[in-house]
Amino acid sequence: MKRAILSDIHGNLEALEAVLRDIESNHVDEIICLGDVIGYGPDPCACLDHAMSFSVTILGNHDNGALFDPNGFSSGAERAIFWTRHQLESPVWPEEDRMRRMDFICEMPRCRREEEFLFVHGSARNPLNEYVFPDDVYNVRKIEKLFGMIERYCFQGHTHVPGVFTDRKDFKSPAQLNYRYELGEHKAMINVGSVGQPRDSDPRSSYVILDDGVVEFRRVEYPLQKTAQKIYDIPDLDNFLGERLVEGR
Ligand SMILES: [Fe+2]
Repeated sequence: MKRAILSDIHGNLEALEAVLRDIESNHVDEIICLGDVIGYGPDPCACLDHAMSFSVTILGNHDNGALFDPNGFSSGAERAIFWTRHQLESPVWPEEDRMRRMDFICEMPRCRREEEFLFVHGSARNPLNEYVFPDDVYNVRKIEKLFGMIERYCFQGHTHVPGVFTDRKDFKSPAQLNYRYELGEHKAMINVGSVGQPRDSDPRSSYVILDDGVVEFRRVEYPLQKTAQKIYDIPDLDNFLGERLVEGR
């Protein structure tokens, strides 16, 4: 089975549509989303409507924050979350649509296990909130603890920085891997990067295709100036949220 695994759409409809076109041209069987469909970006409702057609969408911290009390967010992120909540509740949408989207978020699972595969937003230890950054390879206790909780392979998002951690305590970026990683004997945590707000200095959307034990990292261009302009036009969304799309940070 050929699967697309994507994460951190963050209400960026232009990026999501570009990625979905790329996915379609690759004839995948199903789409798995690792959370944060909403938060930061200007089109939360349209992105949720797309996500409803995916096979699985894991709960992200921003999805959770939009429904419940947001905790641990920066002030800009929190303001974006309240704006997002306002969009979800807005009477411009028929009640049926509002309920459908709320129910969809409420039913998002915190993780998904399939034999040797685990799918989470953050980490195996704390699926909703824990970040695993490339520099964490130097935090031996953390990395050993995380790999202790993984059967073989864990797909995750949340940091918006794509790449592969292995139980040899190393991290390799997609470029270092030539955009291809073959799942083998070593346990691995694969970060699929972010569709809607990449932070590895490459502004193109990031996602992966998993096919027959091979992970292919894909980058997709989208009209990011259009998304950035939408953000600049919404006072409750910090201009920085648009600027960072242009720079991929
Ligand atoms: Fe995120």
